[in-house]
Parts: sequence; structure tokens; C-alpha cells
Amino acid sequence: MSNPSILILPGDGIGPEVMTQVTRIIDWYGNKRDLKFDVSTDLVGGAAYDAHGVPLHDDTMAKAMNVDAVLLGAVGSPKYDDLDFSVKPERGLLRLRKEMDLFSNLRPAQCFDALADFSSLKKELVAGLDIMIVRELTSGVYFGEPRGIFNEGNERVGINTQRYTESEIERVARSAFELAMVRSKKLCSMEKANVMESGILWREVVTRVHADYPEVELSHMYADNGAMQLVRAPKQFDVIVTDNLFGDILSDCAAMLTGSLGMLPSASLGAPMDNGRPRAMYEPVHGSAPDITGQAKANPIACILSFAMALRYSFNEGAEATRLETAIEAVLAEGVRTADLLGEEGVTPVTTSGMGDAILAA
Ligand code: NAI
Ligand code: MG
Repeated sequence: MSNPSILILPGDGIGPEVMTQVTRIIDWYGNKRDLKFDVSTDLVGGAAYDAHGVPLHDDTMAKAMNVDAVLLGAVGSPKYDDLDFSVKPERGLLRLRKEMDLFSNLRPAQCFDALADFSSLKKELVAGLDIMIVRELTSGVYFGEPRGIFNEGNERVGINTQRYTESEIERVARSAFELAMVRSKKLCSMEKANVMESGILWREVVTRVHADYPEVELSHMYADNGAMQLVRAPKQFDVIVTDNLFGDILSDCAAMLTGSLGMLPSASLGAPMDNGRPRAMYEPVHGSAPDITGQAKANPIACILSFAMALRYSFNEGAEATRLETAIEAVLAEGVRTADLLGEEGVTPVTTSGMGDAILAA
């Protein structure tokens, strides 16, 4: 049998810097754990624009459709601010998400004990926090028609439409229930069924899918209350499933409970491919950080944790994912810190590759 395949798209800014550390870890797995991957690398974002005049070449798109998982660094740079919208670096990322039909966006908010001081909340509220927000990524108000700015009488009106079909709700609900089954069997669905018909349908469909997962404890919450609960008592949650817009806001809110942007991974999953693996792209939540590019300051942990998610969700290597996460936890507990995590006494500042060294050693 051939090795599982990975397409690496480092992108722009600190993307290549953090991805270099991931590549070292992938090599480590091949050498030390006999877990080998067929890795290829290509361009996305500004890097692709410089080479091809487009933020994602058709050949790269075709490769992405033919691998088991895509790992992406980050895209974008002020250098491309004046480009036409259609060729902006971000469009490369959007095209990948759209053509791979990655409808289920997994955003973990996990607080490493050693970093609990970085949270905007009290330490005891976040220590040990480990929640997963599942955001619907391909439909809802960001895509619904009609949309636009129209003339109406003597003024203009801006319109966006929240729109969900039953099948769109069902597939993301199913992916959230599947996750809940391998975590602590607790799922909270968030919408605003009190004021939105799309929310009424959302609640109905999620409740229907629940029949296939009777072991999961399902609750429903209005999204505004959900936001409140996330900052009041975040540890009450395990898996949360919600729509595109609420998910955008709630996942950013949950993310900040854990401290630094440099620590946050994500996975975007689609339908199963012929080999049973989901179509998948893994990427850190942060952007290309032009303010620190080229200074060896970038924290590679978000990107490394994204690879850990790939091990777990694409390659069925949950134990190896845990091995990697445990190494990261140990390194942080020793006080090893990139520049974004400084500020405490008794910590050891390291560069991007220094953090990679420490994680490999652990
Ligand atoms: P950003 O996430 O790149 O940076 C925000 C702040 O966090 C900066 O001060 C940066 O230095 C810091 N930071 C981010 N990642 C870090 C890491 N791994 N280690 C240490 N510090 C880190 O967001 P910003 O500045 O709004 O956008 C910069 C560029 O990135 C823009 O072109 C934007 O469009 C693009 N972007 C791309 C994303 C992606 O590729 N998924 C997501 C967000 C923004
Ligand atoms: Mg957002």
C-alpha cells in the first residue's frame, strides 16, 4: 500500500517559517515511528501570484483534490493590498475551501496549563479547557442569495440572506455528532431559533440527526446566550456546532480564552473520498504576520497542532496526535517560549526553529 499523501502549501509571510518546523516533525514520524507520508509542496497566495499571476494555479488545485490532506501555512501580505479582489492572496484559500467543499470547520479551544495566565479570563476558569467548535463553512449568510447593495426609493439597502438547506445542516450536524462520539459525548447546538426561521430548521434537523447518536447528550442554546456562557463558564462545553456566521464569532471568542493566536490550529473537513478519508485541509488560525516575518519570532505551535489534527482526523493516528500534543505541553511546562508568549518570569525565549528543536527533543 502506498503512503498517505500530504500537499504542503506554506504560502506567505511566516507561513513558510512555521511550516518548516512541521516538515521536520513529519520527517521525525517517518524516521522514528515508521509513519511515512508522501509529501509534495506547492505555492498558494502571494507566492503563487508572483509565480503564476493567480493566487492558486489550476494544477495546485488539482493536486489538492488528489491528496489525503492539505496543510496550509498562511496567505497575504501588504505587498498585495492594491491587487484586484479576484487575484488577492486570500482568494487562493477561498478557492481551496470551496472546491474541496470543506463544510465542517473544526476550531479547538484548548488551554495548556502552562499558558493559562495568557487567557483574558481567570486562570481557574480556563485551566484544562478543551472545547471544539464546529462551524459550518460553506453556506449561510456569507453565501445566501439575494445579496448586494440595491437602490430602494431614495436610499440604498444592503442585503444578505441567511439560507440553509436541510442537507447542509444535516452533514455538518453529523460531523459534530461523530466528533462528540470520540470525545466526551456532549454536543451543544447554537442558533437563534427564537428569531430566525433558519434557526428553527437548524434545531429540527440537529434533533433529527441526534436519533442516530443516542449516546450523545445534546443540548440547544441561543447563540447570544452561548457567547455569554463561553466567557462565563467555558468548561461546561465539549463540542459546539453552529452556523457559519455565529461560528465565525463564537470561535474567535473561544480562541481568545486560550491566550495566543500562535497556539490555535484548525481543520476543515468535507465529504469522505473514495478511500474513506474526509477531504481535509489543516491550517493555523493566524495569518501571515508581516510584522514579524523574517525575524525567527513566529510561534510554530499553531501549525504543528494543525498537523496533529491531521494525524487524528485524516490518518486515524489519534495516539500519535496525542504524542505530539503531549510533547508540546511538556515543552511549554518547561518554560520554553517564542516571543509571543513571553512576559512571565523564568521562561526561556527561543526562536521558531528553537521551538521546533524543543518539541522534537520532547
Ligand atoms: P495575523 O494573524 O497575521 O497577525 C496578527 C498579530 O498576531 C500580529 O501581531 C502577528 O505578529 C501575531 N501573530 C500571528 N501569528 C503568530 C505566530 N504564529 N507567532 C507569533 N505571533 C503571531 O493577522 P493580521 O495581521 O490581521 O493579517 C496579516 C496578513 O495575514 C493579512 O494579509 C491578512 O489578510 C492575512 N491573514 C491570513 C489568514 C490565513 O491565511 N488564514 C488569516 C488571517 C489573516
Ligand atoms: Mg473570524
